[in-house]
Amino acid sequence: MGQYRNIVVLTGAGISAESGINTFRDNNGLWENHRIEDVATPEAFQRDPVLVQKFYNLRRAGLKEVVPNNAHKALAEFEKSFSGDFLLVTQNVDDLHDRAGNEKLIHMHGELLKSHCTTTGQVHRQSDDISSDSRCLCCNTTTLRPHIVWFGEMPLQMEAIYSALETCDLFISIGTSGNVYPAAGFVEVANQAGARTVEINLEPSRGADAFAEAVIGPASIKVPEFLSSL
Ligand code: APR
Repeated sequence: MGQYRNIVVLTGAGISAESGINTFRDNNGLWENHRIEDVATPEAFQRDPVLVQKFYNLRRAGLKEVVPNNAHKALAEFEKSFSGDFLLVTQNVDDLHDRAGNEKLIHMHGELLKSHCTTTGQVHRQSDDISSDSRCLCCNTTTLRPHIVWFGEMPLQMEAIYSALETCDLFISIGTSGNVYPAAGFVEVANQAGARTVEINLEPSRGADAFAEAVIGPASIKVPEFLSSL
């Protein structure tokens, strides 16, 4: 492990699959029986806020039924034992990395357990459902939405992510299909930085050619194995 000074890990839905959270692109392009454009765009929210709030309320409630798996746990243990710079960037909106114990963690696509007020932009903790009469703590209006980055919106904390990628010497991508940018392009930035680039996935992702190495198999087995090989 002493050979690395700055490690960036990117995770996607595949790391939470074995905890029981469905991935996005496994069911004919449907996410929990919905087309992504019907539930995960600002236009969908404008058109049918009740449907969109219900969809995320169900996902949020579902977090109570799941726990971190060995891949989440191994990443948390790794962060604790690593003396260099470490950043975990997740596309996942679940809280399994948080519960496993990772601290240097960016949820670039937002978090189910937060809401934000569309009037003030303030972000709040959100453990229960959001309904059409839920009032925000900041200005008492009923303009709360899930704190989720929808298609067409800007992912969060991109500056911090790129600055870590530009200086990393190891980049590991876990459980992501490589369909969604900007995350799918992170490997190129790491390659330009001269980093070792490794993909850990159940199958080669769409961007597999950009990685120097591939580890194929379930995250709960391959992630602990790979991290303990460092
Ligand atoms: N271990 C490792 N990889 C797995 C496992 C597993 N147990 N199960 C599934 N996978 C892989 C799949 O083979 C697939 O390549 O995880 C990947 C999941 O891909 P997607 O469902 O496309 O999820 P992700 O890449 O995270 O999606 C990116 O798209 O819908 C948006 O904003 C949403 O953050 C999401 C983004």
